[in-house]
This record gives sequence, structure tokens and C-alpha cells, in this order.
Amino acid sequence: MSVHKNVKRVTTHTLQEMKDNKEKISMLTGYDFSMAKIIDSAGIDVILVGDSASNVMAGHETTLPITLDQMIYHAASVVRAVERALVVVDMPFGSYQGNSKEALVTAIRIMKESGGHAVKMEGGQEIIESITRILTAGIPVMGHLGLTPQSIYKFGTYVVRAKQEEEANRLIEDAKALEAAGCFSIVLEKIPAELAAKVAKEVNIPIIGIGAGGGVDGQVLVVHDMLGINNDFNPRFLRKYHNLFEEMTNAVKSYISDVRSGDFPNKEEQY
Ligand code: KIV
Repeated sequence: MSVHKNVKRVTTHTLQEMKDNKEKISMLTGYDFSMAKIIDSAGIDVILVGDSASNVMAGHETTLPITLDQMIYHAASVVRAVERALVVVDMPFGSYQGNSKEALVTAIRIMKESGGHAVKMEGGQEIIESITRILTAGIPVMGHLGLTPQSIYKFGTYVVRAKQEEEANRLIEDAKALEAAGCFSIVLEKIPAELAAKVAKEVNIPIIGIGAGGGVDGQVLVVHDMLGINNDFNPRFLRKYHNLFEEMTNAVKSYISDVRSGDFPNKEEQY
């Protein structure tokens, strides 16, 4: 029997049942009320309030500048729209890496002030202390390994990670450490498909991929990328389901033209 068809609200347990039942998990980012309403009513399993809001919503070059208050604002807007999906909220850069007490305070603020259902954190064994402390407060944690955009200045580029054996082995160890610590799921970003499939096989918790091939338990994309709202980001892993940039531009051009010509508003569009 299908797990995802029979749940009214997706929980972390639903995702585990889906993996156990070999049902793929669908996840998209969401940052605002209107978009979250569309994604949720379409039946998505997980909405990630990603710190990619820093790029997509605020126009920053990296995810580093977004603040905790801004993440909470986005997450609370998404939560108000959602009826079914699990809402996972990114912990922003600088809010958890160095100090597990501060990490807990951050996670508690996110849960209390946004109403989100779980947090996501980038990193492996180096952040286990923070993860453990957050989990002891009863807050579910999703991990994130591979290309972790908060470390972009360490990596230097956004190229595929863990192509070399040493980094691949470290990633597998990190995934096992996250599972042992109690994370309910892990995102793997931009790593070889074979490695991602191996991780999905060797750990029992759901593995969600982005640019990590089809051998994992689910997929995530940035919603503005897959809808083609953002038209200058075209990595190989991205499938565009629409060209909304063009369609929206044309709609706005039609409006401008109608206003200029006096065609809008017409008699039926006024009081
Ligand atoms: O912030 C984000 O959008 C993410 C996804 C790319 C997984 O972390």
C-alpha cells in the first residue's frame, strides 16, 4: 500500500516509511506563502525553506549573508500556507558551526517563531556536537553533505564534490555519523551518482539528492530553478518544467502595453 497517498500530514516517520517501502520522496524549496500554497496543494512531500532564499529572494551571490531573523520570516510565511508537507528550515551560516549551545538556541528560535517541523544543517562529523544537542531538545535534524554552499569560500567553486576516493570515503563516514547521531534524513548535493547510491544503500535513513543521480531515496530542487523563473542558472542536473521567466515577462509586457494604449481597464473592469 502506498505510504504517501495515505498521509494527511507528512512527518519524519512518513519519510522513513517511504524509504522502507521504496517510494521516492519529492522535495522542493519554498520561501513565501503564495508559492508554498501551490507546492503544498500539488502534493509535495517536503518543503525546504532553504538558505538559497539568500540568492533567490534577496539576490545575494552566496547563501552566507542571510540572517536567522530573515530565515524565520520566510519559514513562518511558508508554514502559514502548508497543510500537508513537512517543512524543513535551513539553519543559516554562522548560527550553529562553532558552538553547540548557540546552535540549540538557533534551532529553538526557528521552531518556536516559524512553526517549522525540522531544521537542516550543513556538515558532517565537525558539527555532530551541535546536532546531538539539538536532537536532545526533540528537534528533528536533516543533514546536508557533498557540496555545502555555506562552505563555498573553502571549496572555491561549485563543481561536483567527492570525485576523489579520499573525499568520497569521508562523505560515507559523515553520512554514517549523521545517521548514528539521530538525523532523520540527509541531503546529498552535487556528488557522483554512484557514490550517492552507495550512501543510500549503506544508511537506513532517507537520502535526498540534488545533482546526485537517481539512485537515492528522493529529489530536491530549488523551485525557482525548476519553474524557469531564474533563467541564468542551467546546471546539468536541473530539469526545467517551465519557462516562467519568459511567460511572466510576456504577461508584464502585455499589461504595460494595455495600460499605455488605454485598453486596461475596460468598462467591465471598473465600478
Ligand atoms: O538552500 C537550499 O536550497 C538547499 C538545497 C539546494 C538542498 O540547501
